[in-house]
Amino acid sequence: MKTPKSVEYGLEKIFEGAQDFLPLLGTDYVEFYVGNAKQSAHYYKTAFGFQSLAYKGLETGSKDEVSYVLQQDKIRLVLTTPLNSQSPVNEHLKKHGDGVKVIALWVNDARSAFEETTKRGAKAFMLPTVEKDEHGEVVRSGIHTYGETVHIFVERKNYNGIFLPGFKKWKSEYNPEPLGLKYIDHMVGNVGWNQMNKWVKWYEEKMGFENFLSFDDTQIHTEYSALMSKVMSNGNGRIKFPINEPAEGQKKSQIEEYLDFYEGSGVQHLALTTDNIIKTVAGLKARGVEFLPPPPQAYYDAIPERLGKHMEMMKEDIKELQKLSILVDADEEGYLLQIFTKPVEDRPTLFYEIIQRMGAKGFGAGNFKALFESIEREQANRGTL
Ligand code: FE2
Repeated sequence: MKTPKSVEYGLEKIFEGAQDFLPLLGTDYVEFYVGNAKQSAHYYKTAFGFQSLAYKGLETGSKDEVSYVLQQDKIRLVLTTPLNSQSPVNEHLKKHGDGVKVIALWVNDARSAFEETTKRGAKAFMLPTVEKDEHGEVVRSGIHTYGETVHIFVERKNYNGIFLPGFKKWKSEYNPEPLGLKYIDHMVGNVGWNQMNKWVKWYEEKMGFENFLSFDDTQIHTEYSALMSKVMSNGNGRIKFPINEPAEGQKKSQIEEYLDFYEGSGVQHLALTTDNIIKTVAGLKARGVEFLPPPPQAYYDAIPERLGKHMEMMKEDIKELQKLSILVDADEEGYLLQIFTKPVEDRPTLFYEIIQRMGAKGFGAGNFKALFESIEREQANRGTL
């Protein structure tokens, strides 16, 4: 594993020598284009504990599209569905099925974000646009990234409304309890054969990101398949985008399966953090979220050895982790606990990771083999291995 020097300084410190021309305050929202936003919203509320936040649709004068906004702590999801055949959202849905269209990033200056990225060659998606209502104004702009995915820059320092102009507060009588999900740790993109380095360069050049960690096919492989991954991070470390590409193996890798079913590059998974993974995962399971099956007993037997010096600080009971199929990994700085859902739509595309970091800054490299073997068993069931 290659660890650039910048990692040693800690994520809060801006990369040595790099001028941050695109300061990002965090993830603002993630927008999904879905076939039936009303029902998807019900799933995210019931199964994941998201809360109703805002709405736009026919009742608010939005005639072509309806959007539901859900929130849990700092995570904000927008679910959008077209209301007629004319909406361009249909084309996205027809090709990709339900999936992530927008990764929106919170900035202080959306005009500058647009100018700095487009002058470096990023393709414009949305010119800087001012949206106003009685709560103030929001400026948004946007650029294209891999596949048909886009980044929208959101400047909301002069706005105190519920979400964005055009949305009203979504009052619901159905409010399942939140499940302790706090913020987005990272969002992973799958890109096509030999495209990873192109997109690594794109994030470096157009957005000023740095390659924070790299994994090649000698590290991420099973008996049957392999992939490569590079993790891109912005200057303050708040935004992390690992980028995966498939690698040659005996059988079809999970990345290829994704690319076939999504019909192109796109977001593979969102990793959501919790401070208590045992409680969160027990809650998610009780509410019907499906996770990948557990690794074999030998995996849990080997945990004390793998954690080494961090075993002393480990608060969780291994038996309890095993009961919930939670995975454990460690690096020099600490350990982490993680688990992966099955795809959350019918096409085997987008899924979620639930992660609790106990000092570790990695991505669970020690779990890749166990994880991918688990995914391959699922692929075999689908006939797509
Ligand atoms: Fe991940």
